Amino acid sequence: MKHIFSIIFSFAFLLAHSQTPIYSSQSRHHPIVGKNGMVATQHPEATKVGLEILKAGGNAVDAAVAVGFSLAVVLPRAGNLGGGGFMLVYDRETKATKAVNYREIAPKKSSRDMYLDKEGKVDGKLLNSSYQAPGTPGTVAGMALALEKYGTMSLKEVLAPAIRLAEEGFPVTYDLANILRLYQRRLRLSPNTEAIFYKGKDGFYEAGEILKQPDLAWSLKQIAEHGPKAFYGGAIAEKICADMEKNNGLMTIEDFENYEAQIVEPQWGSFNGYKIASMPPPSSGGVHIIQMLNILDAYPLKDLGHNSAATIHLMVEAMKLAYADRSKHLGDPGFWNVPDKGLTSTEYADQLREKIDRQVTTPSSDIAPGKPQDYESEETTHFSVMDADGNVVSNTYTLNFSFGSGIVAAGTGILLNNEMSDFAAKPGEADAYGLIGGEANAIKPGKRPLSSMTPTIVFKEDQPYLVTGSPGGSRIITTVLQILLNVLEHDMNVAEATHAVRIHHQWYPDVLFTERGLNHDTQTLLRARQHTIKYRSAMGSTQTIMLRDGLLFGSSDPRRPDATVLGY
Ligand code: GLY
Repeated sequence: MKHIFSIIFSFAFLLAHSQTPIYSSQSRHHPIVGKNGMVATQHPEATKVGLEILKAGGNAVDAAVAVGFSLAVVLPRAGNLGGGGFMLVYDRETKATKAVNYREIAPKKSSRDMYLDKEGKVDGKLLNSSYQAPGTPGTVAGMALALEKYGTMSLKEVLAPAIRLAEEGFPVTYDLANILRLYQRRLRLSPNTEAIFYKGKDGFYEAGEILKQPDLAWSLKQIAEHGPKAFYGGAIAEKICADMEKNNGLMTIEDFENYEAQIVEPQWGSFNGYKIASMPPPSSGGVHIIQMLNILDAYPLKDLGHNSAATIHLMVEAMKLAYADRSKHLGDPGFWNVPDKGLTSTEYADQLREKIDRQVTTPSSDIAPGKPQDYESEETTHFSVMDADGNVVSNTYTLNFSFGSGIVAAGTGILLNNEMSDFAAKPGEADAYGLIGGEANAIKPGKRPLSSMTPTIVFKEDQPYLVTGSPGGSRIITTVLQILLNVLEHDMNVAEATHAVRIHHQWYPDVLFTERGLNHDTQTLLRARQHTIKYRSAMGSTQTIMLRDGLLFGSSDPRRPDATVLGY
């Protein structure tokens, strides 16, 4: 049905516009088309919830908040109440773009070296899978703040679909059934988690079976009834903190009571005449997207060709320089003087460009020192929403690893994050994503860990043009960079931009990762430039919408099974 809709719209559009079509019979991939509103998320049920809210008269923020709460039910690996994230909002009425920072905060009991054992090594279990792994969650505060400032509906109204999904259940998708099998060793460690997501000690949910989450429904109802204070001091906080105390956890009621989400200015930049708004620190995403775009803006990438060796070489050199800077300069700006203006200035980009040899790759060891390990994790989720009035939401939020710490706080149905591992547990050494962090990102009570999440909105002549973002840990920033380059430089439609083969380099390890499908000849030319190339599993799961000539064009990344974009 959605394809028929899409085809009707595309013909109408092509007849009405004689300028270069956004897609045509020559396009290999076609976006979904809508006119009044569009929602792109990593789960069909959540996308349907967002669309229901838009059709009921809600704006993009109402829909986004309803999606945020619903994903906590249907996408437990990353959707959350027990994590945190970032939301970018373009408010049509005031024409203002704002960023909501609802990143988790290090609890008062945390300290710089708390995850180091007697030999000074990072204790991975304590850091990632214990009651000491979570930072104080920000999602409930962030969603409530966005709704209060930019929404039109009540918290009760936008929570209703999530409550229904938790109480009445929803059909387990193949993807969820599969990931619960894959993660069982970790998730069964917590009896609370096992009781929700498994059928006894050995049983599993199969695709198509209904999963109900009564404790999570209780938590969502508490928030609907009492507002965010239910979570930040009320009945939910009491249950979480009782479980924390019983299990030698860090968080206390005081941490919850002190938590505040913030509204801040976005990180702004420009590329090819477009204005880019993205997430400022404590995310590194906005700073480095803009830094890399500044470096690349001076090269004729379009003439060099999409995913040609010459273009990929320049992208990789820019990525290495940016990730090296990330390791030294980025942290929570409330605790560290982040030189974001310098890093995103065009003068600095000019200096960095001088270090780039167009024929031979610069070894990472010549850019800066460090010997991290390489480890990957698939987590985090992004959703994008646009409404008929031109309001836009770009939201990325996370539990950090898939299912966070794997621990559900007793009686709440809420999975707790393991975001403390996004701090530099041992400054100078690599974190779980192979990213090196410095003193800028050392643990301190009250501080927010550095993130790579990069919710982004692009403006053309001051009108919203493109909204995008992705999960993928350290690969988030380079994934978003490629969506932007594919659309803004290589003139792809959003579906082509999404489907195109992705590459990634993060300075260390000194390896150019590519998805399968990169032309063999291109690889040979890159090796001649001394790049070390390795295949990597699919990178990212972008949710992208473009607004052009009064129509909405959307694409949900096919790299994750359940991602769905719908427009009307
Ligand atoms: N936990 C992944 C990130 O914040 O970038």
